[in-house]
Amino acid sequence: MTVYGNFPGSRPRRLRTTPTMRRMVAETRLDAANLILPAFVREGIDAPVAISTMPGVQQHTLDTLRKAAVEAVSAGVSGIMLFGVPADEKKDGRGTAGTDPDGILQAGLRAVRAEVGDDLVVMSDLCLDEYTDHGHCGVLTEDGRVDNDATLERYAEMAQVQADAGAHVVGPSGMMDGQVGVIRDALDQTGHEDVSILAYTVKYASAFYGPFREAVGSSLKGDRRTYQQDPANVRESMRELALDLEEGADMVMVKPAGPYLDILAKVADSVDVPVAAYQISGEYAMIEAAAEKGWIDRDAAIMESLTGIRRAGAQMILTYWATEVAQRLRRSQA
Ligand code: PBG
Repeated sequence: MTVYGNFPGSRPRRLRTTPTMRRMVAETRLDAANLILPAFVREGIDAPVAISTMPGVQQHTLDTLRKAAVEAVSAGVSGIMLFGVPADEKKDGRGTAGTDPDGILQAGLRAVRAEVGDDLVVMSDLCLDEYTDHGHCGVLTEDGRVDNDATLERYAEMAQVQADAGAHVVGPSGMMDGQVGVIRDALDQTGHEDVSILAYTVKYASAFYGPFREAVGSSLKGDRRTYQQDPANVRESMRELALDLEEGADMVMVKPAGPYLDILAKVADSVDVPVAAYQISGEYAMIEAAAEKGWIDRDAAIMESLTGIRRAGAQMILTYWATEVAQRLRRSQA
């Protein structure tokens, strides 16, 4: 008599035997519609400028920004998140260029809307750090602290000019207390009831933002730990989440993504609004750098990192690879 007793009665490997079998039983699927492209538009340049810490990503001119938006649309990407990079001499303590109707971000928003209309969800980063000479996300008190409530007044003005310029969605990323509520009021009082808020609800003070700071030419010295969250904390994120929902966030975001998948999963489990995650500059740079050295399979690592973020519960993912990945998904589905 054959003895089977020492062999497994259950064989999960049966469902991994062929690519079609694996595809059929896959629990998580990435789709171009999940993807949002963050993009930088810089004032006063006539050709795009490469960002050395983020190989493959550029600071756009208005013209190349339009082209990038069109490419994203044809790849099936859902949205674009715009960041403005003003000329250095336009930076000041209040971040004046951030509320100038002709400021670079506003010009970028108008250019993209003129080009793609509603074919992309057009989003704008609502924060002062790109526009301040000290590099902080808000205005400072005389003794150099970030002044929460004075900053809120600036954010309210920013919300209005960004919505006037055509943003479908504003994305407050400065982590000031009360920012979502103040921005909601400002939008409603200026006839922008339909403009929604994608709140950077959970935003950790992360070393992985490093490459981004080159991307926006940030002049920050020091850190953002008095307003961004401590990576050690979980409950604090749930508190931020409750506040943002109460203040009227339409969608919430967790950032960074990869090192914070536990937080993302917890947030996704506990809300009934759409949840986004931002695969940030450092996450991008690490994969690109390792791939450049031949230490990692670039394309596979990109797909795996995005699948992980999706699996953890993000419906939308901001990623600098959005267009490329959307194109690849298109090809694999064709
Ligand atoms: C703040 C902002 C930052 C990022 C997005 N919005 C930088 C920061 O908080 O220091 C980082 C995005 C990335 O690293 O890709 N305006």
